Amino acid sequence: MESTEQQLGVEHLAGCLALSKSANWNQNEADWRLMLGFGRGWGLAMNDGTLAASTLVLPYNGFAWVAMVLVHPEHRKKGFATRLLHTALADLNQTGRAAILDATPAGHDVYAQEGFADCWGFKRYALTVPAMEFLPGENIRPMEKADWPKILELDAKAFGANRETVLRNLAQRLPQAALVAERGARIAGFLFGRDGREARQLGPLVAYDEQTACDLLGTALQRVEPTVYLDLADRKENLRKWLVRCGFVLQRPFTRMAHGLREAPGESSLVCCPAGPELG
Ligand SMILES: CC(C)(COP(=O)(O)OP(=O)(O)OC[C@H]1O[C@@H](n2cnc3c(N)ncnc32)[C@H](O)[C@@H]1OP(=O)(O)O)[C@@H](O)C(=O)NCCC(=O)NCCS
Repeated sequence: MESTEQQLGVEHLAGCLALSKSANWNQNEADWRLMLGFGRGWGLAMNDGTLAASTLVLPYNGFAWVAMVLVHPEHRKKGFATRLLHTALADLNQTGRAAILDATPAGHDVYAQEGFADCWGFKRYALTVPAMEFLPGENIRPMEKADWPKILELDAKAFGANRETVLRNLAQRLPQAALVAERGARIAGFLFGRDGREARQLGPLVAYDEQTACDLLGTALQRVEPTVYLDLADRKENLRKWLVRCGFVLQRPFTRMAHGLREAPGESSLVCCPAGPELG
C-alpha cells in the first residue's frame, strides 16, 4: 500500500490519538491540540486514509523539540520513522534550529543513525497504589499569577528556552499540581502536572535541591489521585529512593539526545522531572 506525506493539523486529531494509543502512550486530545497548535507536524497516510506515522517539531528559541515520532505497529521497519525524521530535520535546517528529543529505547537507534548523540537519561515511574500517606511540604503553596515571571525565568534556565505556552497550558489542565516552593523573595522550585489518557503526569519539576523537589511532590501527591506518572532524572538518586518507598514502580527509560549541539540546552542539574518526552 502507498503512503502519502501530509502536514498534520487538527483535522488529523483522531488519527494522531489512535497512533499514540497504539503505542500505549499517555497523550490525550489536549496534549495533541497543544503540540499541533504551536508546533509543526508531518504524517504518513495510507491509501485507506489511516494515519500510519507521525513526527512533530516544537520550535523554541535556538532549538526545536522533536516529538511524537510514532509508527503504527503494522507499519514498523519500513523506514517510515526515518523518512519523517528527515522531513523534520530538513525543516529545522532551514530555520537554523538544532534538534533535541527524549528517546525511548525503540527510537534511540533510529536517532543515533541520524547523528543524534546521547546527553543524559531519565526514567518513568508510575504510582497506582500509594505505599504511604503524603504530607504537605514546608514552604510549598499553590502557584499564583504573580509567580509567572520567576517561574519562567527558572524554567528557561533549566530547560534552555522560554516555554510559557506549554507551562500556561499545563497550569490550567491540573491546577492542583501547579505549586511553587518559596524561599524568601525568590522561588526554590516549581511543579506542574497534566491529565493524560492513562494517568496524570507530574512534571516539569524544577528545583535547586532534592529536598525541595521532594516537598513539591509530596504536596502534589496529597492533591492528585493516582494513577500518577512522573519522569525522574537519573542523577536524582535520593529522590528515586524516596519515590520507591512511596510505592512508585519503574516503567521505562529515556535518553535525552541532541542533533546539531554538543549538549542539550539548559542546566540539567535543575531538572528533577522533565515535562515528559513529548515536551522536554
Ligand atoms: C521507534 C519507531 C518510531 C521506529 O519506527 P520505524 O518506522 O519502524 O523505524 P524505521 O523503519 O525508520 O527504522 C527502524 C529500523 O528498521 C530498519 N528498516 C528500515 N526500512 C526497512 C525495511 N524496508 N525492511 C526492514 N527493515 C527496515 C531500519 O534500518 C532500522 O533498523 P535498525 O532496527 O537496525 O535500527 C517505532 O518502532 C515506534 O513507533 N515505536 C513505538 C513508539 C516509540 O518508541 N517511538 C520513538 C519515540 S522516541
